[in-house]
Amino acid sequence: MITTEKILLMKKKKEKIACLTAYDYPTARILDEAGIEIILVGDSAANVVAGEKNTLPITMSDMLYHTKVVARAVKNALVIADMPFLSYQCSIDEAVKNAGSFLKVGAAGVKVEGAGPILKTIERFVQIGIPVMGHLGLTPQSIHKFGGYKLMGKTRKEAEQMIADARRLESAGCFAIVLEKIPASLAKKITKILSIPTIGIGAGPYCDGQILVLHDMLGIYEEFVPKFVKRYAQIGAEIKRAVRDYIREVKAGIYPDKEHYFE
Ligand code: KIV
Repeated sequence: MITTEKILLMKKKKEKIACLTAYDYPTARILDEAGIEIILVGDSAANVVAGEKNTLPITMSDMLYHTKVVARAVKNALVIADMPFLSYQCSIDEAVKNAGSFLKVGAAGVKVEGAGPILKTIERFVQIGIPVMGHLGLTPQSIHKFGGYKLMGKTRKEAEQMIADARRLESAGCFAIVLEKIPASLAKKITKILSIPTIGIGAGPYCDGQILVLHDMLGIYEEFVPKFVKRYAQIGAEIKRAVRDYIREVKAGIYPDKEHYFE
């Protein structure tokens, strides 16, 4: 079974860490059997499962459901639950209760976005035994502050702030940090400075690991495809083909054939 200690060790041994998102039992099971090291139950479920425009509407009860069914499927990977918007920003006590409820349904840790205002919350999580993954760069829960899904850390000031935030997250006890949509050169610098692993998404090749949203890399979600997404399959097109074949066979009376009914 993959633990946070194993993930930290992978950085020391310079072994790249492969991560993907999952939101349901069958795909989580496939990912786990394929050997993925970290499964993030991302709040990107808001976009790729529920069809929302951003991640803000997803709730604790939505995320608990996704986490529960993913954790039920996984035997080996480290399952991390993404804490939804407003589940960890209001008070430390409320955040602890919410983070703890993800562990109760089977997650091994939680992910939170940003640094400054939530550092004390992260420290508290870690003190009571809740492993935390940080997230810097393009943090989608702050979409209205950024005004779009743009490249972050472009100016010297932004880059220095991100380096300082990364150091603070490490000091607060995070076991890894997601770096989203930042220049590869900045991700390289942060990766070199930190002793905990960086997991990149649109952050170039120098991170200790990579993560993609499953529905993006499988070609299931086609409404918006960021530049950094590589399509490893065209599952959406394959589903469409299968459904069209089924419709045609039902209408032509070909299905069900002798093999598929009882006399
Ligand atoms: O919600 C999510 O899927 C994420 C990843 C993009 C890192 O936060």
